[in-house]
Amino acid sequence: MEILKTEKLNLGFQIKNKFYQVLYNVDFSIQQGETFAIVGESGCGKSMTAMSIINLLPKDAKITSGKIFFNGQNLLELPQKELQKIRGRKISLIPQDPMTSLNPLFTVKEQVKEVVEMNSDLRGDSADKRIIELFDMVKIPNAKNRLNAYPHEFSGGMKQRVIISMALAANAQLIIADEPTTALDSTIQLQIMDLLEEIKKEINTSILLISHDLGLVANYSQNCAVMYCGHIVENAPTKELIKNPKHPYTEALINSLPNFETNTITSIEGQPPSIYENIIGCSFNPRCKYAINECHKNFPNSKKVGENHIIKCFVKD
Ligand SMILES: Nc1ncnc2c1ncn2[C@@H]1O[C@H](COP(=O)(O)OP(=O)(O)OP(=O)(O)O)[C@@H](O)[C@H]1O
Ligand SMILES: [Mg+2]
Repeated sequence: MEILKTEKLNLGFQIKNKFYQVLYNVDFSIQQGETFAIVGESGCGKSMTAMSIINLLPKDAKITSGKIFFNGQNLLELPQKELQKIRGRKISLIPQDPMTSLNPLFTVKEQVKEVVEMNSDLRGDSADKRIIELFDMVKIPNAKNRLNAYPHEFSGGMKQRVIISMALAANAQLIIADEPTTALDSTIQLQIMDLLEEIKKEINTSILLISHDLGLVANYSQNCAVMYCGHIVENAPTKELIKNPKHPYTEALINSLPNFETNTITSIEGQPPSIYENIIGCSFNPRCKYAINECHKNFPNSKKVGENHIIKCFVKD
């Protein structure tokens, strides 16, 4: 069953009198119970895609067209009140920096309690008991004694666990994890990813995992979209994508993973263009070793290259 689907999502920033497009016809869908990843270099539009779903876009950002279906309902047509019921409850965000979700002025208990009370009839001591249970589930050690701590008394990994406990309390149907581990060191990173996996099974939720780290995505997602300059250039089951990448950008991303046999990394030459540059044709053409004439003229349409495997490229098939 499909839980989320975007259809031709277009978004940009209105800066003074000019409009700069950031997302181009972004199309993907997430099935119930799966981890779907969006991977791509910094600035390619991953967070804007995530923020469109939970309606937390910066003030200047405008969705110019497209649809975002959550359980079959187009979120972009829902009244604000209905949206608020979904945001933070049915859809939870785990951000890169936990302090964007936690309030420094309130204890962790007060913050989790708000979510517990919003989503259940538990109050007072029974709500506290539930919070301890949740903290145990997300493996916050010594939960009972740490309820009255403030966020700054928790390490980065522990703060992420508090936020994950809120997603659990809300019984979220979709967890959007936007680079949830980039601020953490590598062992803690894996612990948090494993915890998210456990939670996913526990409440049968779906996860939208956003990352620039293809290695992480390879280990934790079932399906994957590769984003470049606001375009989804490849979308496939993750295993297939890693084994049989079709788009030149995906190929370059895979080659830039550390190779432990030869001890080499081949990084992608050049930088992605900024949204302020106007590239004619395929936005990857300045960095693409396969580019042909056509690539400098038009942007390629989606084409099917395998079972559930699409790319946008004139050259490859
Ligand atoms: N508040 C803003 N005003 C103007 N442009 C913005 C703003 N926020 C983001 N952008 C532009 O939108 C583009 C997409 O940004 P986004 O945050 O989605 O990238 P990202 O893929 O999440 O990158 P990162 O990996 O660095 O988090 C960027 O190129 C950036 O220039
Ligand atoms: Mg981002």
